[in-house]
Amino acid sequence: MRVLVVGSGGREHALVWKLSQSPEVTKLFCAPGNGGIGELAELVDIGTEDVEALAEFAESKDIDLTVVGPESSLAKGIVDLFEKRGLRIFGPSKAAARLESSKAFAKNLMKKYHIPTGQFAIFDDPQAARAYVRQLGAPIVVKADGLCGGKGTIVAQTLSEALGAIDLLMEDRIFKQAGERIVVEERLVGEEVSFLVITDGVTALPLLPAQDHKRVHDGDKGPNTGGMGAYAPAPIVDAALSAQVMEQIILPTIRGMASEGLSFSGVLFAGLMLTSDGPKVLEFNVRFGDPEIQAILPLLKSDLVPLLDDAVEGRLSTTQCQWQSGSCVSVVLASGGYPGDFQIGKEIRGLDAFAGRRDVMAFHAGTKKDKARFVSWGGRVLNVVGTGADLEDAVKRAYEAIGKVAFDGMYYRKDIAYRALKRPAVKSGG
Ligand code: AMP
Ligand code: GLY
Repeated sequence: MRVLVVGSGGREHALVWKLSQSPEVTKLFCAPGNGGIGELAELVDIGTEDVEALAEFAESKDIDLTVVGPESSLAKGIVDLFEKRGLRIFGPSKAAARLESSKAFAKNLMKKYHIPTGQFAIFDDPQAARAYVRQLGAPIVVKADGLCGGKGTIVAQTLSEALGAIDLLMEDRIFKQAGERIVVEERLVGEEVSFLVITDGVTALPLLPAQDHKRVHDGDKGPNTGGMGAYAPAPIVDAALSAQVMEQIILPTIRGMASEGLSFSGVLFAGLMLTSDGPKVLEFNVRFGDPEIQAILPLLKSDLVPLLDDAVEGRLSTTQCQWQSGSCVSVVLASGGYPGDFQIGKEIRGLDAFAGRRDVMAFHAGTKKDKARFVSWGGRVLNVVGTGADLEDAVKRAYEAIGKVAFDGMYYRKDIAYRALKRPAVKSGG
């Protein structure tokens, strides 16, 4: 099977790494990929949003299966275009991807199908939004309706912050059309988890639950980032909670989408808040989480190809997903200054420390190969992944490996997985 992966981050490196182990894969391409991905797949110089060119490429190279990383390609309709041309592709259609590309759509769907989420109201008019925010008071959450690269949500602690957010989105239009419509939402309190399933539109296979670390500094301080690290499985999600999430959230969402004529196949990723009133949806994503999947895939014993294939073919009801016992943690090594300004082009030293190791790996995020060496080429540069018998062991291995890697300005959080490590009896199993 000839496989194309679309994307260029740590998520896509993890996908390419896992796919490269499949006996079914004869040739792997990645568009546009990165330095590390280039060691495992042939890189194709086409951007993730140039869906026409990607379809041309897939057709000309007889690609049997395309796997899409970023939401922006899905929101552009890559799946619809590929399917129209008879090309097999894993992911939801443009209309189904609205679960992520329109927060108003997602909230309305949840309301209609009684899926637990925070109270909310939707506004196209800033005057009405201000009046509502004044009436409810802070803390309150203001969200742009459209895709903003993870920056469209403001958790406002004060009324003036909330009013300021409305101004930025609706008057100053900092995210252009994405902020013309907003969702104003009740602030939920609790611990966040990432709950991902692979679905064919009817059956859903849960992946290991994971926890992300969105803030740049230790102790969840500082601005939000694309994610500074993740671990799986998250012990806070036990079998009973997992079953509850499947029954109350995942399956009703998939059935609700089908009732709307929007059959959803691909990855459904529920960002959940575990409130004292049960799990509630913060947001849906329609793709693998980054950096969650970097910590999930190393524990997947099953071949990924049949899983993706069966989702595309609508036969997941007969598919099994097997997991290795133990835990996995992924720590992001970022360029100093990220998520603000940072420098790139810094030589990365010490990557040979990973050679021949199975318990630690480096998934590249923003790197480029420059002759025989790798240089930093983005804000998030590497994901150092450790796998161990339990979470403590995995964390120890990851940080030990990080000690061998260096580039100028390298920055990382020292406390990834701290929440789970604080909890008593952190023995996890698959
Ligand atoms: P979103 O853009 O919806 O993924 O939200 C980004 C982040 O904002 C989430 O991961 C949460 O940390 C936070 N957040 C979003 N919605 C809420 C909410 N209703 N209450 C509290 N925090 C939220
Ligand atoms: N880690 C969160 C996301 O992929 O959106």
